[in-house]
Amino acid sequence: MNAKPRYAILFVCLGNICRSPLAEGVFRAVVDEHGRSSAFHIESAGTGAWHVGEQPDPRSMAVARRFGVDISGQRARQVNKEDFRRFDLILGMDRSNVQTLLSRAPQSATGKIRLFLDHAGGRAVDVPDPYYGGDDGFAAVYHMIREASEALFAKLD
Ligand code: 4NP
Repeated sequence: MNAKPRYAILFVCLGNICRSPLAEGVFRAVVDEHGRSSAFHIESAGTGAWHVGEQPDPRSMAVARRFGVDISGQRARQVNKEDFRRFDLILGMDRSNVQTLLSRAPQSATGKIRLFLDHAGGRAVDVPDPYYGGDDGFAAVYHMIREASEALFAKLD
């Protein structure tokens, strides 16, 4: 019998095509590497609806693939009301994402909403939006996400 996952985690950015799909894929890879996939339910979503139904940005898919992570099966969706009930931890990629989430969440769910990089212990606060930048931005975002994912896993497991 499958045990219920101990943690349901939702990664959130603006479009759900660049940063949060990477976070979903990389955090899942970290969890898998530790043989703990049954303990975690992991999804991602965007606060905006512009890209709903789309595959992740090709630059996110490329950087993930370069590090052995396949995120091509993901499809963008928008954060919805149910998410605030279903997930234990809702992690915004930047402070603007966190503000948007807090403005939409019922009072009972505001304690679940955090900034992803609060778990990284580094200097950076936000995972910067790489959408309008070049490939360097995506590589930088990948490394920030990898570091934060390992730190988050170490805290939760
Ligand atoms: P993401 O990046 O929030 O990391 O997925 C963006 C993707 C698309 C847009 C903005 C940010 N957009 O404005 O369409």
